Amino acid sequence: MRRELHTSIDRRAFLVGATGTLAASVLAARATAGTTKRRLVPAEAYAGLVGDPYPKTRVWSYNGIVPGPELRFRQGDRLTIEVENRLSQETTVHWHGIRLPNAMDGVPHLTQKPIGPGEAFLYSFDLPDAGTYWYHPHMLSSEQVGRGLYGPLIIEEAEPIKVDRDVTWVLDDWRLTKSAQIDDGFGNTMDASHAGRIGNTVTINGRVPDAFSVRHGERIRLRLINAANARIFGLEFAGHEPIVIAYDGQPVDPHPLQNRLELGPAMRADLVIDMLGKPGERFTVIDSFYRRQAYRLVDLVYDGTALRESRLDAPFALPANTMPEPDLTNALRHEVAFQGGMMGMMIEREMGGGTDGGTDTGRGMGSMMGMMHSGRIWRINGVAAEGHVMKPMLTLARGRTHVLAMTNMTAWPHPIHLHGHSFRVISRNKVKTTHREWQDTVLMSPRERVEIAFVADNPGDWMFHCHILEHQAAGMMGVIRVQ
Ligand code: C2O
Ligand code: CU
Repeated sequence: MRRELHTSIDRRAFLVGATGTLAASVLAARATAGTTKRRLVPAEAYAGLVGDPYPKTRVWSYNGIVPGPELRFRQGDRLTIEVENRLSQETTVHWHGIRLPNAMDGVPHLTQKPIGPGEAFLYSFDLPDAGTYWYHPHMLSSEQVGRGLYGPLIIEEAEPIKVDRDVTWVLDDWRLTKSAQIDDGFGNTMDASHAGRIGNTVTINGRVPDAFSVRHGERIRLRLINAANARIFGLEFAGHEPIVIAYDGQPVDPHPLQNRLELGPAMRADLVIDMLGKPGERFTVIDSFYRRQAYRLVDLVYDGTALRESRLDAPFALPANTMPEPDLTNALRHEVAFQGGMMGMMIEREMGGGTDGGTDTGRGMGSMMGMMHSGRIWRINGVAAEGHVMKPMLTLARGRTHVLAMTNMTAWPHPIHLHGHSFRVISRNKVKTTHREWQDTVLMSPRERVEIAFVADNPGDWMFHCHILEHQAAGMMGVIRVQ
């Protein structure tokens, strides 16, 4: 029935229906910088996601807007935010990618008591690293994030690189009904056991985009954040040569984007794009991740005047952040296998078992069905999570370098996220990565082996999970203890 739902919606009508440029909504959503106490209020609201002639969409939002306010700080600032819950259910706020003290991590029951309806909670912690981050609930995330609870968190470098515009695009993917209302079917087994809740309407900064105005000669720092429950983006910038300067907020050796930018849920990238089209020209940004369902995300539209005649001559490499470099020669190694989901048994059999009892993938078809019915569809090292409080799957000696050798024994891609740390992605299928990028969420293809390395320097119990929120809810989650 999901399939029918997809095709019954004329997503092109949505895409074509919207007007106006994004620049205005970006500016409107931007809060002012500073270190004073601020407030986030999760509550129901109405948002004009699709635009005329569609009605506004009933959403859950922070401070009445989707995305929530763009929180901007300087590296080294202290974030102090009171969250006042005006939803009718419990919530928390998780500050995705920030290396913060465990008690501020926003994981219900594990690091804090959930914030009940009408209650408030004060988050307060230092921001050690610059970069592009985001915030979202860690409570019933599939539904709470899926209904619009998320926002960008931008931490500026002490001396930001010189650009003409610093732009944030928060990407989301909604499953809407024909009257542009959120489809209520959260957490169904079909989504949970396949690709997750893929929607039918893609927004940038809470609006189906049409055009983004640029000027010849303009240099834009584009901060991309994937806030979708499940959609993976594969962005192609025809006619332009974006330079990648950061992944998941962390600086990387600047390098030209090859083909397309793949961003799984929760992942971010910072691009520097020199706008070198001619005045009046129009270029299309395409999302081609799901090959046969490529679509036009937005057009870059050059207005009539040039900002400058040639490329801006200014450096754009970002200064390093503060995480310690892993010491690979003295690293402790841990095997991690991701298992389950539709067709997972077949792949586990082929790939040879994993770590949950040798080659015994054969919980048998009977128990597979059992798992489906109980909603425990995915496993990490043989264990399907049922909530956030669980026996740690790994206990890591504090201060040591650890390598997680991860194997995706499933038929689906998974963006795997570790809380409280950034890690270097050191190899994929035994081949060393070119940029040894720091990430906090790494996208693994089906059957792929990925090694990550990090110094476990942040004590506490940290969630480790797939950021396809329906996979997370259906078991693909564990706790890693650093002590
Ligand atoms: Cu973005 Cu565990 O979360
Ligand atoms: Cu997953």
